[in-house]
Amino acid sequence: MNRLKQLDLACLWHPFTQQTEWGQDLAQHPLIIARAKGHYLYDHAGRKYLDAVSSLWCNLHGHRHPKLDKALAQQMRKMAHTTFLGLTHEPGIRLAQELLAVSPQGLSRVFYSDNGSTANEVALKMIYQFHAQKKERSFPKTEFIALKNSYHGDTLGSVSVGGIELFHKKFKPLLFKTHFAASPHCGTCPYRKKPLDPKSVTRYAYCGESPRPGDARHDTGCQWECLGEIKNLLQKKGSRVAGVIVEPIVQGAAGILVAPPGYLSGLSKLCSQHHVPLIADEVAVGFGRTGKLFACEHENVRPDILSLAKGISGGYLPLAATLSTEKIYRGFLGKAKEFKTFFHGHTYTANPLACAVARSSLALFAKNAIIKKTAALADNLGEMLGSLISHPHIGEIRQAGLMAGVEIVADKDQGRSFDYKQRIGRRICLAARSQGLLLRPLNDVIVVMPPLSITNGELKFMIKGIRQSIQRVLKI
Ligand SMILES: Cc1ncc(COP(=O)(O)O)c(C=O)c1O
Repeated sequence: MNRLKQLDLACLWHPFTQQTEWGQDLAQHPLIIARAKGHYLYDHAGRKYLDAVSSLWCNLHGHRHPKLDKALAQQMRKMAHTTFLGLTHEPGIRLAQELLAVSPQGLSRVFYSDNGSTANEVALKMIYQFHAQKKERSFPKTEFIALKNSYHGDTLGSVSVGGIELFHKKFKPLLFKTHFAASPHCGTCPYRKKPLDPKSVTRYAYCGESPRPGDARHDTGCQWECLGEIKNLLQKKGSRVAGVIVEPIVQGAAGILVAPPGYLSGLSKLCSQHHVPLIADEVAVGFGRTGKLFACEHENVRPDILSLAKGISGGYLPLAATLSTEKIYRGFLGKAKEFKTFFHGHTYTANPLACAVARSSLALFAKNAIIKKTAALADNLGEMLGSLISHPHIGEIRQAGLMAGVEIVADKDQGRSFDYKQRIGRRICLAARSQGLLLRPLNDVIVVMPPLSITNGELKFMIKGIRQSIQRVLKI
Protein backbone atom coordinates (compact mmCIF):
# COMPACT_ATOMS: atom_id res chain seq x y z
CA MET A 1 0.00 0.00 0.00
CA ASN A 2 2.74 2.45 0.93
CA ARG A 3 4.46 1.66 -2.34
CA LEU A 4 1.21 2.43 -4.24
CA LYS A 5 0.89 5.72 -2.37
CA GLN A 6 4.45 6.66 -3.27
CA LEU A 7 3.89 5.74 -6.88
CA ASP A 8 0.67 7.74 -7.03
CA LEU A 9 2.46 10.81 -5.66
CA ALA A 10 5.38 10.29 -7.99
CA CYS A 11 3.48 9.62 -11.23
CA LEU A 12 -0.03 11.02 -11.15
CA TRP A 13 -1.89 14.27 -11.59
CA HIS A 14 -5.52 13.86 -10.47
CA PRO A 15 -8.50 15.70 -12.04
CA PHE A 16 -10.00 18.74 -10.28
CA THR A 17 -7.39 18.28 -7.57
CA GLN A 18 -4.92 20.61 -5.90
CA GLN A 19 -2.01 18.17 -5.82
CA THR A 20 -0.54 19.76 -2.67
CA GLU A 21 -3.71 18.91 -0.75
CA TRP A 22 -3.81 15.51 -2.40
CA GLY A 23 -0.35 14.73 -1.02
CA GLN A 24 -1.64 15.49 2.48
CA ASP A 25 -4.81 13.47 1.85
CA LEU A 26 -2.85 10.44 0.78
CA ALA A 27 -0.64 10.74 3.86
CA GLN A 28 -3.47 11.34 6.35
CA HIS A 29 -6.53 9.75 4.80
CA PRO A 30 -5.19 7.23 2.30
CA LEU A 31 -7.96 5.81 0.23
CA ILE A 32 -6.93 3.44 -2.49
CA ILE A 33 -9.95 1.60 -3.76
CA ALA A 34 -9.35 -2.08 -4.39
CA ARG A 35 -12.80 -3.33 -5.37
CA ALA A 36 -16.50 -2.50 -5.44
CA LYS A 37 -19.71 -4.41 -4.90
CA GLY A 38 -23.30 -3.20 -4.75
CA HIS A 39 -23.38 0.26 -3.22
CA TYR A 40 -19.97 -0.05 -1.55
CA LEU A 41 -16.35 0.58 -2.42
CA TYR A 42 -13.66 -1.34 -0.52
CA ASP A 43 -10.13 -0.14 0.20
CA HIS A 44 -7.00 -2.29 0.43
CA ALA A 45 -7.52 -2.87 4.15
CA GLY A 46 -11.01 -4.22 3.40
CA ARG A 47 -12.80 -1.18 4.88
CA LYS A 48 -16.06 -0.42 3.11
CA TYR A 49 -17.52 2.93 2.08
CA LEU A 50 -21.03 3.72 0.89
CA ASP A 51 -20.72 5.22 -2.60
CA ALA A 52 -23.02 8.17 -1.88
CA VAL A 53 -22.00 10.06 -5.05
CA SER A 54 -22.47 7.12 -7.41
CA SER A 55 -18.79 7.26 -8.46
CA LEU A 56 -19.22 10.81 -9.74
CA TRP A 57 -22.92 10.62 -10.54
CA CYS A 58 -22.84 7.75 -12.99
CA ASN A 59 -23.53 4.51 -11.13
CA LEU A 60 -27.21 3.59 -11.28
CA HIS A 61 -27.71 -0.03 -10.24
CA GLY A 62 -24.73 -0.61 -7.94
CA HIS A 63 -21.28 -2.02 -8.69
CA ARG A 64 -20.79 -5.52 -10.10
CA HIS A 65 -24.45 -5.85 -10.99
CA PRO A 66 -24.91 -9.44 -12.20
CA LYS A 67 -26.84 -8.44 -15.35
CA LEU A 68 -24.39 -5.73 -16.34
CA ASP A 69 -21.40 -7.96 -15.58
CA LYS A 70 -22.95 -10.68 -17.72
CA ALA A 71 -23.60 -8.33 -20.65
CA LEU A 72 -20.02 -7.12 -20.46
CA ALA A 73 -18.55 -10.62 -20.27
CA GLN A 74 -20.68 -11.82 -23.17
CA GLN A 75 -19.64 -8.93 -25.37
CA MET A 76 -16.02 -9.36 -24.27
CA ARG A 77 -16.02 -12.85 -25.71
CA LYS A 78 -17.07 -11.42 -29.09
CA MET A 79 -15.14 -8.16 -29.48
CA ALA A 80 -13.75 -5.48 -27.17
CA HIS A 81 -13.44 -2.70 -29.67
CA THR A 82 -13.50 -1.72 -33.29
CA THR A 83 -13.97 1.64 -34.90
CA PHE A 84 -17.36 3.16 -35.73
CA LEU A 85 -15.79 5.19 -38.54
CA GLY A 86 -16.66 3.30 -41.71
CA LEU A 87 -17.87 0.22 -39.77
CA THR A 88 -20.82 -0.57 -37.55
CA HIS A 89 -21.77 -3.22 -34.98
CA GLU A 90 -24.82 -4.74 -33.33
CA PRO A 91 -24.48 -3.31 -29.79
CA GLY A 92 -24.17 0.21 -31.23
CA ILE A 93 -27.09 -0.22 -33.61
CA ARG A 94 -29.44 -1.82 -31.09
CA LEU A 95 -28.61 0.66 -28.33
CA ALA A 96 -29.38 3.57 -30.68
CA GLN A 97 -32.79 2.11 -31.47
CA GLU A 98 -33.51 1.50 -27.79
CA LEU A 99 -32.42 4.98 -26.74
CA LEU A 100 -34.60 6.62 -29.38
CA ALA A 101 -37.58 4.53 -28.24
CA VAL A 102 -37.43 6.02 -24.73
CA SER A 103 -36.10 9.52 -25.38
CA PRO A 104 -38.25 12.66 -25.77
CA GLN A 105 -40.34 12.73 -28.94
CA GLY A 106 -38.84 14.21 -32.07
CA LEU A 107 -35.33 12.84 -31.63
CA SER A 108 -34.43 10.34 -34.33
CA ARG A 109 -30.63 10.09 -34.66
CA VAL A 110 -27.87 9.03 -32.29
CA PHE A 111 -24.30 10.26 -32.58
CA TYR A 112 -21.97 8.49 -30.14
CA SER A 113 -18.92 9.77 -28.32
CA ASP A 114 -17.37 8.85 -25.00
CA ASN A 115 -18.02 11.40 -22.21
CA GLY A 116 -20.29 14.23 -21.19
CA SER A 117 -18.00 16.98 -22.46
CA THR A 118 -17.73 15.41 -25.90
CA ALA A 119 -21.50 14.81 -26.01
CA ASN A 120 -21.89 18.59 -25.65
CA GLU A 121 -18.96 19.38 -27.91
CA VAL A 122 -20.72 17.34 -30.60
CA ALA A 123 -24.01 19.14 -29.89
CA LEU A 124 -22.45 22.60 -30.24
CA LYS A 125 -20.48 21.80 -33.39
CA MET A 126 -23.45 19.99 -34.90
CA ILE A 127 -25.87 22.86 -34.44
CA TYR A 128 -23.32 25.42 -35.63
CA GLN A 129 -22.61 23.46 -38.81
CA PHE A 130 -26.32 22.82 -39.34
CA HIS A 131 -27.00 26.57 -39.52
CA ALA A 132 -23.88 27.26 -41.57
CA GLN A 133 -24.97 24.94 -44.38
CA LYS A 134 -28.66 25.86 -44.46
CA LYS A 135 -29.94 26.94 -47.87
CA GLU A 136 -31.69 30.10 -46.78
CA ARG A 137 -29.32 32.99 -46.16
CA SER A 138 -29.08 34.32 -42.64
CA PHE A 139 -26.55 35.95 -40.33
CA PRO A 140 -23.70 33.64 -39.43
CA LYS A 141 -24.82 31.95 -36.24
CA THR A 142 -21.66 31.82 -34.19
CA GLU A 143 -23.00 32.65 -30.74
CA PHE A 144 -24.78 30.66 -28.06
CA ILE A 145 -27.00 31.36 -25.07
CA ALA A 146 -26.29 29.55 -21.80
CA LEU A 147 -27.07 30.13 -18.15
CA LYS A 148 -24.97 31.57 -15.39
CA ASN A 149 -23.80 28.76 -13.08
CA SER A 150 -24.01 26.21 -15.87
CA TYR A 151 -21.52 23.40 -16.34
CA HIS A 152 -21.32 21.41 -19.55
CA GLY A 153 -17.86 19.85 -19.35
CA ASP A 154 -14.19 20.64 -19.67
CA THR A 155 -13.40 20.68 -23.39
CA LEU A 156 -13.12 24.18 -24.83
CA GLY A 157 -16.52 24.20 -26.56
CA SER A 158 -18.21 23.04 -23.37
CA VAL A 159 -16.19 25.55 -21.36
CA SER A 160 -17.34 28.32 -23.73
CA VAL A 161 -20.93 27.72 -22.60
CA GLY A 162 -19.93 27.20 -18.96
CA GLY A 163 -21.01 29.76 -16.39
CA ILE A 164 -18.99 28.87 -13.29
CA GLU A 165 -16.39 31.56 -12.76
CA LEU A 166 -14.04 29.35 -10.74
CA PHE A 167 -13.72 26.79 -13.53
CA HIS A 168 -14.24 28.83 -16.67
CA LYS A 169 -13.03 32.42 -16.27
CA LYS A 170 -9.34 31.58 -16.79
CA PHE A 171 -9.96 30.25 -20.27
CA LYS A 172 -11.98 33.20 -21.54
CA PRO A 173 -9.46 34.33 -24.18
CA LEU A 174 -9.78 30.91 -25.83
CA LEU A 175 -13.58 30.75 -25.96
CA PHE A 176 -16.33 31.54 -28.47
CA LYS A 177 -19.04 34.08 -27.76
CA THR A 178 -21.78 33.04 -25.36
CA HIS A 179 -24.47 35.21 -23.78
CA PHE A 180 -25.31 34.24 -20.22
CA ALA A 181 -28.78 34.65 -18.74
CA ALA A 182 -29.81 34.44 -15.07
CA SER A 183 -29.45 31.11 -13.38
CA PRO A 184 -32.92 29.79 -12.44
CA HIS A 185 -31.93 29.40 -8.80
CA CYS A 186 -34.63 31.01 -6.68
CA GLY A 187 -32.61 30.77 -3.45
CA THR A 188 -30.14 33.46 -4.47
CA CYS A 189 -32.19 35.14 -7.19
CA PRO A 190 -31.91 38.94 -7.15
CA TYR A 191 -35.50 39.21 -8.43
CA ARG A 192 -36.88 37.37 -5.43
CA LYS A 193 -39.49 39.46 -3.56
CA LYS A 194 -40.29 37.17 -0.61
CA PRO A 195 -37.69 35.86 1.82
CA LEU A 196 -36.55 32.25 1.59
CA ASP A 197 -38.45 29.99 3.97
CA PRO A 198 -35.70 28.68 6.26
CA LYS A 199 -37.76 25.65 7.31
CA SER A 200 -38.26 23.80 4.04
CA VAL A 201 -36.29 21.89 1.46
CA THR A 202 -36.25 23.29 -2.08
CA ARG A 203 -37.66 20.33 -3.88
CA TYR A 204 -38.53 20.07 -7.53
CA ALA A 205 -42.09 18.78 -7.78
CA TYR A 206 -41.04 15.85 -9.84
CA CYS A 207 -43.23 13.39 -11.68
CA GLY A 208 -45.85 16.00 -12.45
CA GLU A 209 -46.80 16.49 -8.80
CA SER A 210 -47.61 19.91 -7.53
CA PRO A 211 -45.33 21.06 -4.72
CA ARG A 212 -46.23 19.67 -1.31
CA PRO A 213 -47.03 22.30 1.33
CA GLY A 214 -43.78 23.31 2.98
CA ASP A 215 -41.79 21.53 0.30
CA ALA A 216 -40.95 24.00 -2.37
CA ARG A 217 -39.30 27.34 -1.95
CA HIS A 218 -40.19 28.59 -5.38
CA ASP A 219 -42.85 30.97 -4.11
CA THR A 220 -40.73 34.04 -4.74
CA GLY A 221 -43.22 36.68 -5.78
CA CYS A 222 -41.14 37.28 -8.91
CA GLN A 223 -42.26 37.87 -12.49
CA TRP A 224 -40.08 35.14 -14.03
CA GLU A 225 -37.37 37.69 -14.71
CA CYS A 226 -34.96 34.79 -15.35
CA LEU A 227 -36.99 33.85 -18.41
CA GLY A 228 -37.32 37.54 -19.24
CA GLU A 229 -33.53 37.71 -19.60
CA ILE A 230 -33.58 34.84 -22.08
CA LYS A 231 -36.42 36.51 -23.99
CA ASN A 232 -34.46 39.76 -24.21
CA LEU A 233 -31.37 37.96 -25.44
CA LEU A 234 -33.34 36.05 -28.05
CA GLN A 235 -35.00 39.27 -29.23
CA LYS A 236 -31.75 41.23 -29.43
CA LYS A 237 -29.22 38.58 -30.42
CA GLY A 238 -31.38 35.73 -31.70
CA SER A 239 -30.39 36.18 -35.35
CA ARG A 240 -26.77 35.34 -34.48
CA VAL A 241 -27.51 32.62 -31.93
CA ALA A 242 -26.97 29.02 -33.00
CA GLY A 243 -28.60 27.47 -29.95
CA VAL A 244 -29.55 27.66 -26.29
CA ILE A 245 -27.99 25.08 -23.99
CA VAL A 246 -29.42 24.15 -20.61
CA GLU A 247 -29.09 21.55 -17.85
CA PRO A 248 -32.77 20.65 -17.46
CA ILE A 249 -34.24 20.99 -13.94
CA VAL A 250 -30.90 20.90 -12.05
CA GLN A 251 -27.67 22.83 -12.51
CA GLY A 252 -25.53 20.10 -11.02
CA ALA A 253 -21.91 21.18 -10.75
CA ALA A 254 -22.91 24.66 -9.55
CA GLY A 255 -24.15 23.05 -6.32
CA ILE A 256 -27.33 21.13 -7.25
CA LEU A 257 -29.31 24.28 -8.04
CA VAL A 258 -32.91 23.27 -8.65
CA ALA A 259 -34.93 25.31 -11.16
CA PRO A 260 -38.53 26.25 -10.34
CA PRO A 261 -41.19 24.05 -11.97
CA GLY A 262 -42.22 25.75 -15.22
CA TYR A 263 -38.82 27.24 -15.99
CA LEU A 264 -37.75 24.55 -18.43
CA SER A 265 -41.02 24.55 -20.38
CA GLY A 266 -40.96 28.36 -20.44
CA LEU A 267 -37.44 28.32 -21.84
CA SER A 268 -38.38 25.73 -24.43
CA LYS A 269 -41.38 27.83 -25.53
CA LEU A 270 -39.19 30.90 -25.97
CA CYS A 271 -36.72 28.93 -28.08
CA SER A 272 -39.55 27.70 -30.33
CA GLN A 273 -41.01 31.20 -30.69
CA HIS A 274 -37.62 32.53 -31.82
CA HIS A 275 -36.74 29.47 -33.91
CA VAL A 276 -33.58 28.87 -31.93
CA PRO A 277 -32.74 25.19 -31.24
CA LEU A 278 -32.66 23.97 -27.66
CA ILE A 279 -29.84 21.68 -26.49
CA ALA A 280 -30.74 19.74 -23.36
CA ASP A 281 -27.65 18.58 -21.50
CA GLU A 282 -28.92 15.58 -19.55
CA VAL A 283 -25.45 14.24 -18.86
CA ALA A 284 -26.04 14.49 -15.10
CA VAL A 285 -29.84 14.42 -14.85
CA GLY A 286 -30.59 11.70 -17.41
CA PHE A 287 -31.37 8.05 -16.71
CA GLY A 288 -33.76 8.36 -13.80
CA ARG A 289 -31.80 10.72 -11.61
CA THR A 290 -34.60 13.28 -11.15
CA GLY A 291 -37.47 10.79 -10.96
CA LYS A 292 -38.16 10.49 -14.71
CA LEU A 293 -36.02 8.67 -17.24
CA PHE A 294 -35.11 12.07 -18.71
CA ALA A 295 -35.58 15.37 -16.88
CA CYS A 296 -37.20 16.98 -19.95
CA GLU A 297 -40.17 14.65 -19.43
CA HIS A 298 -41.19 16.51 -16.26
CA GLU A 299 -42.32 19.45 -18.38
CA ASN A 300 -42.99 17.71 -21.69
CA VAL A 301 -40.07 19.43 -23.31
CA ARG A 302 -38.82 18.20 -26.65
CA PRO A 303 -35.29 19.44 -27.20
CA ASP A 304 -33.71 19.64 -30.66
CA ILE A 305 -30.58 18.01 -29.31
CA LEU A 306 -30.15 15.83 -26.20
CA SER A 307 -26.71 15.14 -24.67
CA LEU A 308 -26.33 11.94 -22.66
CA ALA A 309 -23.39 10.34 -20.83
CA LYS A 310 -22.59 9.35 -17.20
CA GLY A 311 -25.48 6.98 -16.36
CA ILE A 312 -25.86 5.79 -19.93
CA SER A 313 -23.67 2.74 -19.26
CA GLY A 314 -24.93 2.29 -15.70
CA GLY A 315 -21.61 3.72 -14.51
CA TYR A 316 -19.48 0.96 -16.05
CA LEU A 317 -17.67 2.36 -19.08
CA PRO A 318 -17.11 5.65 -20.92
CA LEU A 319 -19.93 6.25 -23.38
CA ALA A 320 -21.93 9.25 -24.53
CA ALA A 321 -24.62 9.99 -27.08
CA THR A 322 -25.86 13.17 -28.73
CA LEU A 323 -29.39 12.71 -30.05
CA SER A 324 -30.73 15.00 -32.76
CA THR A 325 -33.92 15.61 -34.70
CA GLU A 326 -34.30 14.38 -38.28
CA LYS A 327 -34.37 18.02 -39.43
CA ILE A 328 -30.87 18.62 -38.09
CA TYR A 329 -29.64 15.28 -39.45
CA ARG A 330 -30.97 16.05 -42.92
CA GLY A 331 -29.09 19.32 -42.97
CA PHE A 332 -25.89 17.28 -43.28
CA LEU A 333 -26.97 15.15 -46.23
CA GLY A 334 -25.55 15.71 -49.69
CA LYS A 335 -22.86 14.52 -52.06
CA ALA A 336 -19.40 13.97 -50.55
CA LYS A 337 -18.05 16.78 -52.71
CA GLU A 338 -20.46 19.24 -51.06
CA PHE A 339 -18.50 18.74 -47.79
CA LYS A 340 -21.60 18.73 -45.60
CA THR A 341 -20.24 15.74 -43.71
CA PHE A 342 -20.02 16.11 -39.93
CA PHE A 343 -16.26 15.72 -39.58
CA HIS A 344 -16.20 14.63 -35.97
CA GLY A 345 -15.45 11.28 -34.30
CA HIS A 346 -13.34 9.66 -31.61
CA THR A 347 -11.30 6.48 -31.55
CA TYR A 348 -13.53 4.88 -28.93
CA THR A 349 -16.83 6.21 -30.32
CA ALA A 350 -19.57 3.61 -29.67
CA ASN A 351 -17.22 1.19 -27.95
CA PRO A 352 -19.05 -2.17 -28.19
CA LEU A 353 -18.41 -3.16 -24.57
CA ALA A 354 -19.89 0.11 -23.35
CA CYS A 355 -22.87 -0.21 -25.73
CA ALA A 356 -23.57 -3.77 -24.57
CA VAL A 357 -23.59 -2.73 -20.91
CA ALA A 358 -25.71 0.33 -21.72
CA ARG A 359 -28.33 -1.92 -23.33
CA SER A 360 -28.39 -4.09 -20.26
CA SER A 361 -28.75 -1.02 -18.00
CA LEU A 362 -31.64 0.32 -20.07
CA ALA A 363 -33.36 -3.06 -19.96
CA LEU A 364 -33.25 -2.97 -16.15
CA PHE A 365 -35.29 0.25 -16.08
CA ALA A 366 -38.25 -1.45 -17.72
CA LYS A 367 -37.86 -4.78 -15.97
CA ASN A 368 -37.40 -3.49 -12.42
CA ALA A 369 -39.79 -0.50 -12.52
CA ILE A 370 -36.84 1.65 -11.50
CA ILE A 371 -38.50 5.00 -12.14
CA LYS A 372 -41.38 4.17 -9.80
CA LYS A 373 -38.99 2.99 -7.10
CA THR A 374 -36.81 6.08 -7.51
CA ALA A 375 -39.82 8.34 -6.96
CA ALA A 376 -40.63 6.54 -3.68
CA LEU A 377 -36.99 6.67 -2.54
CA ALA A 378 -36.82 10.36 -3.42
CA ASP A 379 -39.84 11.03 -1.21
CA ASN A 380 -38.11 9.32 1.69
CA LEU A 381 -34.88 11.17 0.99
CA GLY A 382 -36.86 14.45 0.99
CA GLU A 383 -38.20 13.68 4.46
CA MET A 384 -34.77 12.74 5.77
CA LEU A 385 -33.26 15.92 4.34
CA GLY A 386 -36.06 17.85 6.03
CA SER A 387 -34.72 16.60 9.37
CA LEU A 388 -31.44 18.44 8.68
CA ILE A 389 -32.89 21.81 7.78
CA SER A 390 -33.04 23.20 11.31
CA HIS A 391 -29.27 22.73 11.75
CA PRO A 392 -27.66 26.12 12.51
CA HIS A 393 -25.01 25.66 9.79
CA ILE A 394 -27.23 24.28 7.06
CA GLY A 395 -28.53 26.89 4.65
CA GLU A 396 -30.54 25.78 1.68
CA ILE A 397 -31.16 22.10 0.95
CA ARG A 398 -32.11 21.38 -2.66
CA GLN A 399 -33.47 18.17 -4.11
CA ALA A 400 -34.79 16.72 -7.35
CA GLY A 401 -35.32 12.97 -7.26
CA LEU A 402 -32.20 11.20 -6.02
CA MET A 403 -30.04 14.26 -6.49
CA ALA A 404 -29.60 16.67 -3.60
CA GLY A 405 -27.29 19.35 -2.24
CA VAL A 406 -26.91 20.36 1.40
CA GLU A 407 -25.40 23.82 1.66
CA ILE A 408 -23.16 24.52 4.64
CA VAL A 409 -23.13 28.16 5.73
CA ALA A 410 -21.28 30.20 8.34
CA ASP A 411 -24.35 32.28 9.22
CA LYS A 412 -27.75 30.87 8.47
CA ASP A 413 -29.78 34.05 9.09
CA GLN A 414 -27.66 36.13 6.78
CA GLY A 415 -26.90 33.32 4.35
CA ARG A 416 -23.18 34.03 4.78
CA SER A 417 -20.79 31.41 3.39
CA PHE A 418 -17.59 30.20 5.02
CA ASP A 419 -14.34 31.55 3.68
CA TYR A 420 -13.15 29.29 0.84
CA LYS A 421 -9.83 28.88 2.66
CA GLN A 422 -11.55 27.03 5.48
CA ARG A 423 -12.38 24.20 3.03
CA ILE A 424 -15.43 23.29 5.12
CA GLY A 425 -17.12 21.07 2.52
CA ARG A 426 -13.93 19.14 1.93
CA ARG A 427 -13.33 18.67 5.65
CA ILE A 428 -16.88 17.42 6.21
CA CYS A 429 -16.46 14.87 3.42
CA LEU A 430 -13.15 13.69 4.88
CA ALA A 431 -14.84 13.31 8.27
CA ALA A 432 -17.61 11.26 6.65
CA ARG A 433 -15.04 8.93 5.20
CA SER A 434 -13.96 7.76 8.63
CA GLN A 435 -17.59 6.69 9.15
CA GLY A 436 -17.64 4.62 5.98
CA LEU A 437 -19.42 7.21 3.86
CA LEU A 438 -17.93 8.45 0.61
CA LEU A 439 -19.00 11.99 -0.32
CA ARG A 440 -17.59 14.67 -2.59
CA PRO A 441 -18.50 18.32 -2.07
CA LEU A 442 -19.07 21.13 -4.53
CA ASN A 443 -17.32 23.83 -2.55
CA ASP A 444 -19.45 23.95 0.63
CA VAL A 445 -22.37 22.01 -0.79
CA ILE A 446 -22.46 18.38 0.27
CA VAL A 447 -23.73 16.40 -2.68
CA VAL A 448 -26.09 13.49 -2.11
CA MET A 449 -26.34 11.40 -5.26
CA PRO A 450 -26.61 7.69 -4.42
CA PRO A 451 -27.16 4.90 -6.94
CA LEU A 452 -30.85 4.57 -7.90
CA SER A 453 -30.86 1.12 -6.30
CA ILE A 454 -29.99 2.51 -2.85
CA THR A 455 -32.10 1.23 0.06
CA ASN A 456 -34.00 3.26 2.65
CA GLY A 457 -31.64 1.94 5.32
CA GLU A 458 -28.63 3.18 3.37
CA LEU A 459 -30.27 6.58 2.85
CA LYS A 460 -30.71 6.81 6.63
CA PHE A 461 -27.07 5.87 7.18
CA MET A 462 -26.05 8.58 4.71
CA ILE A 463 -28.08 11.34 6.35
CA LYS A 464 -26.89 10.33 9.80
CA GLY A 465 -23.28 10.32 8.53
CA ILE A 466 -23.68 13.79 7.04
CA ARG A 467 -25.16 15.16 10.27
CA GLN A 468 -22.39 13.65 12.40
CA SER A 469 -19.64 14.81 10.05
CA ILE A 470 -20.96 18.38 10.11
CA GLN A 471 -21.03 18.20 13.90
CA ARG A 472 -17.48 16.88 14.07
CA VAL A 473 -16.07 19.57 11.82
CA LEU A 474 -18.09 22.51 13.13
CA LYS A 475 -18.11 21.27 16.74
CA ILE A 476 -21.83 21.80 17.29
C1 LIG B 1 -24.43 18.60 -16.89
C2 LIG B 1 -23.08 18.07 -17.22
N1 LIG B 1 -22.66 18.12 -18.49
C3 LIG B 1 -21.45 17.63 -18.84
C4 LIG B 1 -20.60 17.08 -17.91
C5 LIG B 1 -19.25 16.57 -18.31
O1 LIG B 1 -19.24 15.19 -18.31
P1 LIG B 1 -17.84 14.42 -18.34
O2 LIG B 1 -17.22 14.60 -17.00
O3 LIG B 1 -18.22 13.00 -18.61
O4 LIG B 1 -17.03 15.02 -19.43
C6 LIG B 1 -21.01 17.00 -16.58
C7 LIG B 1 -20.15 16.42 -15.56
O5 LIG B 1 -20.35 16.51 -14.38
C8 LIG B 1 -22.28 17.52 -16.22
O6 LIG B 1 -22.72 17.50 -14.95
